[in-house]
Amino acid sequence: MSNQNKMNIPPVKAYFPEEDRKWVTTKIDEMLQSGMLTLSTLGKEFEKEVCQLTGAQYAVAVNSGTSAIEIPLRILDVAGKDVLVPTNTFFATGAAVVHAGGNPVFVDMNPETFAISPENLGKKLTPKTVGVVLVHIAGLVSYQTPEIADWCKKKGLWLLEDAAHAHGSTYKGKHAGTFGIAGTFSFYPTKVITSGEGGVIITNDKKIFEEAQLYRDQGKTSFLTNTHGKMGYNWRLSEPHAAIGLVQLRRLKEILAKRAKIGSFYNEELKNVSFGKPLSIPQEGFTNYYKYIFTPDKPFTDRAAFKKSFKEKTGVSLTGEVYELPLHKQPVFQKWTGGNLAVAEDLCAKHICLPIFPSMTMDEAKHVIASLKEAFHG
Ligand SMILES: Cc1ncc(COP(=O)(O)O)c(C=O)c1O
Repeated sequence: MSNQNKMNIPPVKAYFPEEDRKWVTTKIDEMLQSGMLTLSTLGKEFEKEVCQLTGAQYAVAVNSGTSAIEIPLRILDVAGKDVLVPTNTFFATGAAVVHAGGNPVFVDMNPETFAISPENLGKKLTPKTVGVVLVHIAGLVSYQTPEIADWCKKKGLWLLEDAAHAHGSTYKGKHAGTFGIAGTFSFYPTKVITSGEGGVIITNDKKIFEEAQLYRDQGKTSFLTNTHGKMGYNWRLSEPHAAIGLVQLRRLKEILAKRAKIGSFYNEELKNVSFGKPLSIPQEGFTNYYKYIFTPDKPFTDRAAFKKSFKEKTGVSLTGEVYELPLHKQPVFQKWTGGNLAVAEDLCAKHICLPIFPSMTMDEAKHVIASLKEAFHG
């Protein structure tokens, strides 16, 4: 690689224009004066605006995308039962099942969608299976999502969507997180929008809505009592976090447009290359381009070494695969593994993610593409 000029390009970067930073600091000043620092008006506004975005009837704000998954799993009472979970996902998806007392049963992925498929789910169904967790990897809502929802209905299972990657993403106009009994989002700093730390559960199910509010606040029967009816936890979202989340929700449209500009440029530039595949976006879907996955045709001999040298020579950081190692290969999940999940193993080992963030310039995007072409042709 004898690259053009080096440009230091990080993999992700949060987007907070000055106006938004001022709004948040004013709100924080107000809450410091009032002392209303948790479970108050901003949290409620945050929930209301999540409902407006997604079209869900109810939203419950919590302190992370991880607790957002565990709470519905507790309400759905997975203890001692099997839950089908993609192996190609983040630790938290599988861990939430374990923390709620259930057994994760890992499922392979469709190489076209990066998500589970009805066919792969069928192979892993057990007599103890009560439900399925679907993850919208990279912000892509798989074209098979409605089929997966139908498959679950036919089998008498619920569907929970871990939409941690999928703020603003839709399939046939339906927002991620609204295809099953509940959906969950993460607002971690690397996500499309962030609250610092935070998460939210969306649902049209009144029982899940009502019980989720109890679980997030130590399982108390109400805010002002000390009677605990559920095995809850401190999963509350604080008001400062809600303020950051709100300002980002209001900026989402602009963030999506800026990400789409870079994502479409990558698609165009990579669609005919001879060394790999660009991101495949479902025809009737809208993606937030949370991650731009590029899959080289040939496996790396040493992906970490490739990324290190790419960064040194071009300044471009390819840090962070979607998932480097599938969950069934993670040491902590050995008790729950079983079978050969070859598609996920292959994809996890061979993909890379290109930098993408709202403030990225076209010059930076061009530099990423030129550097990639040079590295693979060279
Ligand atoms: C697919 C997925 N699920 C769950 C989580 C957990 O979210 P959090 O970090 O907000 O707890 C993350 C991300 O971090 C994620 O990528």
